[in-house]
Amino acid sequence: MQVEEFKARRQALMQKMGHGVALIPTAAEAVRNRDSHYPYRFDSYFYYLTGFDEPEAVVLLVAGEAPKTILFCRDKDIEREIWDGFRHGPEGARDTFGFDEAYSITELDQRIGEYLANQLQLFFSLGADSDWDQRLGGWLKQLASQARSGVATPAAIVDVRRLLDEMRLVKTPYELEIMRKAAEITVDAHKRAMRTTRPGLMEYEVEAEILHEFCRRGSRAPAYTSIVAGGGNACVLHYITNQDLLNDGDLLLIDAGCELEGYAADITRTFPVSGKFSPVQKDVYELVLAMQQAAIAQVRPGQHWNSPHEAALNVLAQGLIDFGLCQGSLDGVLESGDYRRFYMHRTGHWLGLDVHDAGEYKQADGAWRLLEPGMVLTVEPGCYIRPAENVPEHFWNIGIRIEDNAVVSADGCEIITAAAPKTVQEIEDWMRQA
Ligand code: GLY
Ligand code: MN
Ligand code: MN
Repeated sequence: MQVEEFKARRQALMQKMGHGVALIPTAAEAVRNRDSHYPYRFDSYFYYLTGFDEPEAVVLLVAGEAPKTILFCRDKDIEREIWDGFRHGPEGARDTFGFDEAYSITELDQRIGEYLANQLQLFFSLGADSDWDQRLGGWLKQLASQARSGVATPAAIVDVRRLLDEMRLVKTPYELEIMRKAAEITVDAHKRAMRTTRPGLMEYEVEAEILHEFCRRGSRAPAYTSIVAGGGNACVLHYITNQDLLNDGDLLLIDAGCELEGYAADITRTFPVSGKFSPVQKDVYELVLAMQQAAIAQVRPGQHWNSPHEAALNVLAQGLIDFGLCQGSLDGVLESGDYRRFYMHRTGHWLGLDVHDAGEYKQADGAWRLLEPGMVLTVEPGCYIRPAENVPEHFWNIGIRIEDNAVVSADGCEIITAAAPKTVQEIEDWMRQA
């Protein structure tokens, strides 16, 4: 944790606000069952501004002539710390994380009025969490009741995510360094899974190899639930059951990424359970690979968000016509959308603290936004062929996705996940050496 990086983010947000106060709570702890909780995950916006990973915390940023940052967090509590572990406490957190002031979270109701009073703008994620909406409503009502003593309530509530999304979209060198590490660990996890896979294993046995590598390298959780999908399961886009047998002759699709210091990696590789592609699997695989190459060639500054997707669709539509899976002209298949029977998702998304990261895909005028250096996105074309009457049987249950993570650079992009075997040759070579 680099305190200067987080301070700079707070300052940048306050500058964008101009004046007013921002109120950003972290996520609540979530009960799994009875008195067991899910592993705690902070709110991404809160963490982006603070680097503080304890639950029950709120940050306030007062912008204007006398800018000020205030953290409310849990008190130190020796009894609780014996059971649950270390807490920074307000004073410790203030010094370690570089806030101007810090108070106990138990004092929030009593102190919040002084920060909200007479501010013309309140920056808050209204609608993100009904508990916080309700609490804020109570505070504003309380302030309004003091109107005759000259206390003004905020005239406008602005969605703070509008400002933060734009900041989060372009990554700093500090963020990119973490994302490269997350990519490296995830690459090694996929390589390990490829080498372990053989007919007769269960999907969860391969999932265990992925999770082992994540945890062993300091990633305490996957960034999303891993998809380990053998054969026809790969045609279920969000398959996470991961408990079927891996059969000789089938493909295995793995979509898995680790989370490191809050940042996600998101890689998909598809490879033969036996280590050797069949001729038809190879044909479809090479079509998806060509889609990805065409898409990656479009990732550079000045290109609009949708151009990688459009490039991938062009390659796909022609390939489906060549396979006899779609009929008609290239333009006809693109226009009718007939390819959607085999490819029903888009070719990527922003990547960062959230796997589907913050940031608009369109500009205010409705046009696709343009790529800029420092943006990070996935490039993940696929082709999923379910059994159907009008599809020749040898194509059935082939589901392929190839997903890499791209950082937009000054004149193109850097594929930070490139080291995971990807061509037919690379995959077969890597698996043969197992
Ligand atoms: N793993 C989620 C995605 O690829 O979008
Ligand atoms: Mn993805
Ligand atoms: Mn993915």
